[in-house]
Amino acid sequence: MHSSETIDINAVKMACRALLPSAREDGPEATLTSLTGAKSFPGRNGKEATLTEKKNGKESKSGEILEGLSALLRVWEDLPSLTKEAFLKMQAPPSLPPSLPPSPPPSCSHPIATDVPSSTGSGADGFLDHHHHHHPISRPAPSSPSPSSSSSSSSSEITTGSTTASSSSSTSPSSSLRKHQRRLIEEDEDLSPTPPSLPPSPPSSATSSSCLLLEPLPRAPHNVFLLRDPVSSQAMGWRNVFSLPISYDVSLSSNLLSPANPDLLLASSSTSSPSSPPPPALPQKNKRPEAVTEILNQLTRFGLRRREPIVAIGGGVILDIVGMAANLYRRGVPYIRVPTTLLALVDASVGVKNGVDFDSPSCGCQKNRVGSFYAPSAALLDKTFISTQDARNVVNGLGEIMKLALVRSQELFLLLEAHGARLVRERFQGQDGVADRVMELSIQIMLEELGPNLWEERLERCVDFGHTFSKIMEMLPDVDLMHGEAVNIDGFFSVLLARRRGLCSLSERDRIFKVMRAIGLPTMVPRGPSSLPPSLPPSPAASTAPTRAEEQAEMVKMLWKGLEDAVEHRHGQQRLPLIVGLGHSVCVSDVTREELEGAVDELYDVHGF
Ligand SMILES: NC(=O)c1ccc[n+]([C@@H]2O[C@H](COP(=O)([O-])OP(=O)(O)OC[C@H]3O[C@@H](n4cnc5c(N)ncnc54)[C@H](O)[C@@H]3O)[C@@H](O)[C@H]2O)c1
Repeated sequence: MHSSETIDINAVKMACRALLPSAREDGPEATLTSLTGAKSFPGRNGKEATLTEKKNGKESKSGEILEGLSALLRVWEDLPSLTKEAFLKMQAPPSLPPSLPPSPPPSCSHPIATDVPSSTGSGADGFLDHHHHHHPISRPAPSSPSPSSSSSSSSSEITTGSTTASSSSSTSPSSSLRKHQRRLIEEDEDLSPTPPSLPPSPPSSATSSSCLLLEPLPRAPHNVFLLRDPVSSQAMGWRNVFSLPISYDVSLSSNLLSPANPDLLLASSSTSSPSSPPPPALPQKNKRPEAVTEILNQLTRFGLRRREPIVAIGGGVILDIVGMAANLYRRGVPYIRVPTTLLALVDASVGVKNGVDFDSPSCGCQKNRVGSFYAPSAALLDKTFISTQDARNVVNGLGEIMKLALVRSQELFLLLEAHGARLVRERFQGQDGVADRVMELSIQIMLEELGPNLWEERLERCVDFGHTFSKIMEMLPDVDLMHGEAVNIDGFFSVLLARRRGLCSLSERDRIFKVMRAIGLPTMVPRGPSSLPPSLPPSPAASTAPTRAEEQAEMVKMLWKGLEDAVEHRHGQQRLPLIVGLGHSVCVSDVTREELEGAVDELYDVHGF
C-alpha cells in the first residue's frame, strides 16, 4: 500500500485470486473492476482510496496484497445483494471461502430487464448471458478473446485465513482497467425477474449462438449492460437490470381517526407538508376509469406535491381507485391505505395491486381489467372500523378469509367452524382473542403468499382460489353479488371440482358447506329468471321458468367462459387452484367442460334443487 489514500490494483487482483481460487483465471479482477466501477474503493477509516496501478511492472508486496484484500472485503460489503449473487454464481465449485459472506436472496427486489435493440456500440467484452434460456453455469465460448491474464508472467502463494491458493498476477502495468475486463458468466435467472422460489429449469442445450455477452457500461456498471453477440461480436442492444426495493409496513392500530392517535400522521411524516388534500368526490362504488380521472382532477386542483401522500380511507373499491390514481399522478405519489372494511383489511390493503373495471365496446365490462402494481407507503389496519359494517359486508370479508383457510390453514378453518357466525354478530370486536387471531392469520398468510410474488411473475397462486369463475359472476347484470360473496361461490364450486377428482373427501365437502352456510356465505349464484346469463333464448316455453337442465346448461356456459377468461389472464393455462384436503392446494390446468357439467349437477344436488 503506497499510502492510506491509494490501493494497488494488482494487489487487489491477487487478493481476489486468493479469496476465489476456483474462479476462472481472469474472473476475479474483471468482476471487481466491472462491478465496482474500478476507479475508487472505500479506504480505511472511511476515507476513499484511489485505485492505482504500480508503474514499472513491479510485483505487489505481501503487505500491499493484504491491503488489497481488506479493500476487496469493504467493496464486497457495499455491493447490492443481486450483484453479490451474480458474482458468487460465477465462481465454480468449490464454493467461496467463509471469509466472503453469502448474500441473502433478493426477495424484496424486483429486477426489471429491458432489452433495447441496437445496431451500434463497441467496447470490451463482459458477462456472457444465455439469452432467453436457462443454463447451468458454463464456460465462455472458445471463440472469446483470450484473457489478458494469459500473459501473466509470475505466480505467488498467498495464505489468507484458511484459504491457500496459487495465483497469477497480471503484469501488464500499462493496460487500462477496462482491458482487464473479461467475459464472465451469468445465468439467465440471475438477471431475470424469476423469483427464487421457482423450481429450477431444466438445462438447455442451446449453443453459444443463443448467448449474449453482457458488457458492463462504465457509468452504470451494476445494472446497464451492452448486449453483444459472442460469435460475431456485434452489439445487439442493452439490458437494464434494476432492483426496485419494496418495503412497506402493514401495521395494526386502533382508533386511527382519533386525534389522539398519531399513527396516520407518522405514516405520512416522511413527506413535506402537514396539509392534506380534501377528500375527493368519488362516485359511490363506481370502480371505473372515470373515478380515477375524477381523483386526478382533484389532485391537480389541489396542487399535490410530489412527496405528499394521499391517504386512502375506505373499502376495497376506494383503495383500488385511489391506488391507481396515486400511481398515475406525477408518475407516482405516495399513498397510505387505511382499509375500513373487513375485506379490505385482510386483502385489498395487504398487497400492491390496484385497478378498476373496464367497459370495452367489444367485450363488455371486465373486472379489474385496468390497473397496476404499486406499493403503498404504508397500510394502517384498525379493526374497529368493522364495528360499523352491516352483517352482509362482514360476511363478504369472510369470503376472502374462508378462501385463505381452505387453501392454507386448517387452524383458520377450525376457527371459522367454531366461531364464524359469532364473528359476524360481534363484528370482530369480541375480546376473547378469536377475532384477533383470525385477522392475524389471514393477514399473515396473505403476506406470505403475496410477498415473494408481488408482481405475480409466478402465475400458480393459491390466493387465486375463488377468483376464476367469480369475476364473471360479479359482472352479471341484475345479480347483486359482492366480491367476497362471488369468491365464495367460486370457492365452493372449486371444492366440488376437487372432490370429483378425489382431492378432498365427501365429508370435507359437507363440512365446508356447513361452515359456509353457518356464516351466511352464499354457495351458489342466486337463482331466478334474470340471475343466469344470458337469459335463455325466447322459445315457446319462454313464459315458463327454465328447467333445471336448462339452468345448468346456462351455468356451465358461464363457468366455461370464466375459465377461458382465466386462461387468458393466466397466460395460456387454467392454473386453477383446487384444495387438497383442508388447508392445502394445487393448481391444475386440465379441467374439462364435462367436469364442469358434473360439478354443476352436484351443486344443484347439494342445494336440494
Ligand atoms: N387490490 C387488491 O388487491 C384487492 C383485493 C381484494 C379485493 N379488491 C377489491 O375490493 C373491492 C371490494 O372491497 P369491499 O368489499 O371493501 O367493498 P367496498 O369498498 O365497496 O365497500 C363496501 C361498502 O361498505 C361501505 N363501508 C366501507 N367502510 C365501512 C365501514 N367501516 N362501516 C360501514 N360501511 C363501510 C362502503 O361505502 C361500501 O358501500 C372489489 O372491487 C375488489 O375487486 C382489491
